[in-house]
Amino acid sequence: MTNFDKSDTTSHSHSSIYIRNMDIDDLAPIYHLGETVFTSDLYPYLYRTWDEWEVIGLYNTDPEYCLVAEIAENLAGFILGTVISKGAWIYGYIMWLGVSPNFQRQGVGDKLVDKLVERMIVDGVRFMLVDTDPANTPAVKFFTRKGFGNTRQHIFLSMNLNKHYYYGKLISYEREKAERTAYKGSRRRPAAKPQEIASEAAAKIILTENPSLSGEPESFNDADD
Ligand SMILES: CC(C)(COP(=O)(O)OP(=O)(O)OC[C@H]1O[C@@H](n2cnc3c(N)ncnc32)[C@H](O)[C@@H]1OP(=O)(O)O)[C@@H](O)C(=O)NCCC(=O)NCCS
Repeated sequence: MTNFDKSDTTSHSHSSIYIRNMDIDDLAPIYHLGETVFTSDLYPYLYRTWDEWEVIGLYNTDPEYCLVAEIAENLAGFILGTVISKGAWIYGYIMWLGVSPNFQRQGVGDKLVDKLVERMIVDGVRFMLVDTDPANTPAVKFFTRKGFGNTRQHIFLSMNLNKHYYYGKLISYEREKAERTAYKGSRRRPAAKPQEIASEAAAKIILTENPSLSGEPESFNDADD
């Protein structure tokens, strides 16, 4: 953690934007705000990869790069980032940025990015990275306006495994196998208690050593040998 100020209030044209460190009570509200801004219809990739572990994980590993924006004590937005060291470079990576639809275009995203970058500079970052869906025009415009550039198209390919000629068969095979196992399990006698297993094992040893105690005719045991 840097010794940078833990909070910052900026008076914007309309309202006061307060930036602070994320705390444990923010986990659920941030997750739910993310659900409302990373929508499946607009940004399927963001939607698929956003889950509670993104928030919990980054809060756990990079709390100093998890910031919250408030306006009049309402959650207005959040930013979650991380730092990657590679060779001589330290990269700052904006992993998630979300501003509540009620507070968009009021400078909230702007303020969150500024605060994060300021912290990262103190920690040695000299190069920033961010990625988003190319169809996400507001974000592309937002980041371009912030000074990001050198855009590279990154192609995400996807596949529905159920529909694949080979993987689909593998899925059916695995499903049938699981069903067979479940069926066999349901027919099996109830699992023995540890005590019963121990006495059963002891009985087997005694019987192996004294075949005559098994109750079978001697000739039967002999025939087996
Ligand atoms: C992208 C996002 C974070 C911007 O936050 P914001 O607080 O509204 O942005 P700011 O008010 O600080 O900056 C506004 C600038 O961003 C750009 N911008 C933001 N929304 C825009 C929109 N709907 N259409 C076009 N440009 C837009 C413009 O350049 C705008 O400047 P202007 O108002 O002078 O035209 C916000 O729209 C959002 O949360 N989107 C959904 C989640 C997302 O896509 N996150 C980024 C990828 S993880």
